[in-house]
Order: sequence, then structure tokens, then C-alpha cells
Amino acid sequence: MANDPSTSSQLFARKPLALLLEEAKGENRLRRVLGPVQLTALGIGAIIGAGIFVATGAAAHNIAGPSLMLSYVIAGITCIFAALCYAEFAAMVPVAGSAYTYAYATLGELFAWIIGWDLILEYGVSSAAVATGWSAYFQSAVSKIGIHIPKILSESPWKYDPATGHFASTGALFNLPAIVIVVIITAILVKGIQESATFNGVMVAIKVAAVLFVIGVGAFFINTTNWHPFAPFGWTGISFFGHRVAGMADGGGAPIGTMAGAAIIFFAYIGFDSVSTHAEEAKNPQRDVPIGIIVSLLVCTVLYIAVVAVLTGMVKYSNLDIAAPVSDAFKQKGMGWAEGLIATAGVSGITSVLLVMMLSGPRVFLAMARDGLLPKATFGDVHPKFRTPWKSTMLVGTFVGALAGFLPIDALLHLANIGTLLAFVIVCAAVLIMRKKHPEAERPFRCPWVPFVPVMGVLSCLMLMFSLPVANWWRLIAWLALGFVIYFAYGRRHSVMRNQSA
Ligand code: ALA
Repeated sequence: MANDPSTSSQLFARKPLALLLEEAKGENRLRRVLGPVQLTALGIGAIIGAGIFVATGAAAHNIAGPSLMLSYVIAGITCIFAALCYAEFAAMVPVAGSAYTYAYATLGELFAWIIGWDLILEYGVSSAAVATGWSAYFQSAVSKIGIHIPKILSESPWKYDPATGHFASTGALFNLPAIVIVVIITAILVKGIQESATFNGVMVAIKVAAVLFVIGVGAFFINTTNWHPFAPFGWTGISFFGHRVAGMADGGGAPIGTMAGAAIIFFAYIGFDSVSTHAEEAKNPQRDVPIGIIVSLLVCTVLYIAVVAVLTGMVKYSNLDIAAPVSDAFKQKGMGWAEGLIATAGVSGITSVLLVMMLSGPRVFLAMARDGLLPKATFGDVHPKFRTPWKSTMLVGTFVGALAGFLPIDALLHLANIGTLLAFVIVCAAVLIMRKKHPEAERPFRCPWVPFVPVMGVLSCLMLMFSLPVANWWRLIAWLALGFVIYFAYGRRHSVMRNQSA
């Protein structure tokens, strides 16, 4: 239909803000039960998890050394730029769907689809990475009471070897604990958000206490000579589609160094954006969603930097454990009792991340289905009694369980990062576009220092994307290509906007 003049304009058709707000008042909506404290707790619940408890070990050991502290600063600043942009949109368009909905209101349907499809990748793959990290801490915690999961059911069948850059067989069949936790969380989510928020609150309290314990007690064991050399793999680590631009590379050609470390542990910050997907369940979204996003991110940034400073000060980076670095550092210092305590808190901390991550994906699906871009009967169905998007929750659960069961954590983590960084790039750009096109729109929260903050958001996210192993670019492109096929085969034809304007 290349000669149909409505075709290209429809691709860029925007959904009016007034319509979005009107829809938010309609039937079949989610319950408004969340206040600022619960939203901040959901943020912290989604943020502190496998990133700090698991990924820190390999990132310090193989990629950044003690300069991982600085990597956390770089990734934290990048996220603050993006968070300020997210907060402006979340306050303007407080309905489920997060960046997908913002893109629909600003950049048009095609971009909305791209970002929606990308968010599914972000939440789905992050959830799988987190479930895999959960499995590692769970196995470490239960081993303290003599329970050992048989090797064949304990991890994914493949593992990335940084020395060769290839995936090697582990001898295992699949990761059973990861699959089991995904099934349990899916069941909790089908039942309802109120119960989930309460459960999340308890988990958040436990993990924040564990993190404070690590900082408070670990600080007494810091030996500053462990911080030297500070950046053993260099300060940078950037490549452009496989061509080294700055810094060193591992055996497989993947960038290493402080910046490359930031691209990996960026994962530890993923989750603050999921607060915005709960806008529709917030009592006072215009005020409370920006509070939830920004406060949760700031709290976590400070805690992370302190934890990494303590860990790399307690134990030489090259002696940090890869699977459960935080609890193991205490073991190395002769505090076996603390090891068990931290491993148990790590399990609950990572559980709450999984809960929020898996809560977010189905809500993006819900928003897309309401707009007709995905089949409503499946993705748009809100359960009559529980008021949850139950069918898409189960579908996401199946997808996450399969990924978590069969893929290794590092592959999942890299893919989650690149998908999330792309979403951030689009959100930051959309703030600029919206300010220009609709300067008059009501903005209960305004991102400060525009255009500096959104421009820096775009640039810093792109830089981190180029610090990831190149294979992730190809995986991202393949995922987006699949998305295009679905959009042109289904979404474009069934779009509510298109059919209304036809
Ligand atoms: N930020 C989350 C974590 O570290 C995804 O587990």
C-alpha cells in the first residue's frame, strides 16, 4: 500500500494526550492503591537485586577491578539523566505502559511499537537474568543447611568463557530453581497487585537491611591496599560494531575497563523505570510517580557505590567470587555466620526484583493491546475478580521461565542492558521533541536543564551501548526485526487509532 497516502502518516500518527487521560478514567482499569512510599518501595524493590548481589563479582574480577566503584558512578549518572526524563513523562501521561505510551503521544505509532516491543525484551530478559541470579544465591543459601541441587539441574547448559569469547557446555540440562521461582512469582502476580505490594515491602526491608549491614560491618575490614591497582583493565572499553575504539578487550574481543564495567553493572540500576508502569495504579500519579522514580534511584546509587567500595576493599578484586560475591567476601574474612545471613537476604532481595520486573512486562502488553497493536483477547484481558492482566502475566511467565532455564546469566544480562539503554535513548529524545512540539502541555513535573539533561541522557546511553560486546547489537536488531514483522502483519491493521481515523 505504498501509494496509500494515509499509510505513512498513520505510521507516525500520535495518540493525543487528552485521549490518553480520558481512557485512564474508563472501565476495565487497574485499581488505584499505591502511594508514594509504596511506589518508592516498588522502585527499590525493582532496583537492588542480582546486579549488586551477583554481577558485581564478575564485573570487578574480569572487567573493571576496584574502579568498578567509578563504573557504578557512571551508570548511576546515566540513569539519573534518563530518570528525570521518565519522570516528566510519567507525570504527564500517568497511565500504564510507561515509555511505550509516552512514545505514542510524541513520536507516533511506529516508534511506540518499537519501544513497546523493546520494553518487552527489557523486562522479559531482565526477569530471566534475575531468576538465574536468584538461583545462584538460593543454592548458596541452602547449601549452608546441607541441601545441594544436583549439578544437572543447577544451571544453564551453556556458559560464556571470557578467555575465548565462546559459549562452552556446562554439562547441566537446565536451571531448575530459576524455573521454579518464575512459576511461583507468576502465580502471585496473577492473584493481585495489593498482595504483591505488601509482599514487596517486606522483601525491600530485608534487603536494605542486608545492604546496610554489608556497608556498616564490611567497612571495618577494608584494607586500602586492595584498591591498588585501581583500574587494572584500563579506564575505558568502547568498541563500535566490533572495532575497538578505546581501551582493552577480552579473549573474545569484548571491551573491558571502567566504562565497559559501567555497561555491565548498568543492569543493577534497571528497574527504576518500572515505577512509571504503575502510574495507573497510583493514587496521585502526577506527584508520586516522579517521587518514586527519583528517590528510589538516588537511594540505590549511594548504597551501590558504598557496597562496591567496601567489597573491593575487603577482598582483592581478583579473589572476589563470581556467583555470590557479597556473601563470599564475608566468608573470606572468617564470618561464616554473616555469609548465611547475607545469602538469605540476597535471595529475598532478588525475589522482590523479580516480582516487580515480571509485573511490568504484562502492563506494557496491556497498553499495546488496548491500542489494538496486539490481540486484545489475550493481552488486554483484565481478570474480572483479581483485576490483573492475568493471561499476559502467564504468557510472560512462560517466556521468562524458558529463558531463565536455558540461558546463562551474562548473555541475559547483556541483552537486557542493551534493550533498556535503547528505551532510555528514545525516552530522552522524546522529552526534547515533546517540549518543542507541545510546549503548552501541562507538565506537573518538569525535567530540569532541558536540553542538557535529555541530550546527555541520549549520549551517555549510547556510549554504554557501545561498551557492550557487539553480539548484543545483532541480537537487539534481530529482536526489533521480528517486532517489525508482527507490527506490519498485525498491529498496523488492527490499530485503534488507524481504524478511528479511517
Ligand atoms: N536492577 C535489577 C537487579 O539488579 C534488575 O537485579
